[in-house]
Amino acid sequence: MEKYGPRVLVTGGSRGIGRAVVLELAARGARIFATGRDEGLLAELAASAGCRVGAFDLAEPEAPARLYEAAKRELGGFPEILVNNAGFNARKSPALEIEAGELDAQYAVNLRAPILLCREAMRDMAAARRGRIVNVVSTTALFANETMGVYTAMKTGLRGFTTVLQKEARQYGVKVLGIYPGGVDTEFRANPRPDYLRPESAARLIVDAIYAPEDAVIHELVFRPLVESNF
Ligand SMILES: NC(=O)c1ccc[n+]([C@@H]2O[C@H](COP(=O)([O-])OP(=O)(O)OC[C@H]3O[C@@H](n4cnc5c(N)ncnc54)[C@H](OP(=O)(O)O)[C@@H]3O)[C@@H](O)[C@H]2O)c1
Repeated sequence: MEKYGPRVLVTGGSRGIGRAVVLELAARGARIFATGRDEGLLAELAASAGCRVGAFDLAEPEAPARLYEAAKRELGGFPEILVNNAGFNARKSPALEIEAGELDAQYAVNLRAPILLCREAMRDMAAARRGRIVNVVSTTALFANETMGVYTAMKTGLRGFTTVLQKEARQYGVKVLGIYPGGVDTEFRANPRPDYLRPESAARLIVDAIYAPEDAVIHELVFRPLVESNF
């Protein structure tokens, strides 16, 4: 299909929620640059979604800026929609067991990278006076979950940054969406959770929020599987 839709940058597109978002956006005609680390999965995504891809490790401090430049080059212009989706939680660690290394690793990918990508995108979007930024946070930023302290700290940080950016971006006509998924059945966890949401369902909700009517912005989209509805 010939695509004339918006130019979109999606991080963490190689699997899970990000991959489903890429496929959903591609089906609606978007021109997409998707990133991750796994080159095999990215090549497979490029073929199935008809999108451009690039491998970048967001743990590296310079990766967000390099990735953003690659997106502009590959898309032939600045991304009109940025989806900050890449993220991970390596293990469950009660406060007694937290190690400095896991704090640093999660900070780099779950907080520093999306903030730096927001900075890059805002420079172009503010000049163009349009754009949408989507930060995939988590319901962990809305409540307390034992053994999830490190991940929760990073996601709560991203939530805080997102709410500030929502106010800063308003004057430029840039919409900033904070997405708060509950459990989604992806490789985010070691074991399958068929009682959690399918990534395709999460993607539909996210993409519908991106394409909200022009005069509306969805600042916070919270969704969960039914099994979690006793929050
Ligand atoms: N699944 C859930 O229940 C859930 C709930 C709430 C929020 N979230 C959030 O949703 C987002 C997507 O999660 P998911 O469930 O789809 O997880 P997933 O299936 O594990 O996918 C994570 C994605 O992030 C990328 N990524 C991880 N570390 C990276 C790094 N160092 N550099 C570059 N890319 C990296 C992965 O790329 P490679 O594999 O190619 O490295 C992959 O594409 C995350 O931000 C997560 O925190 C998930």
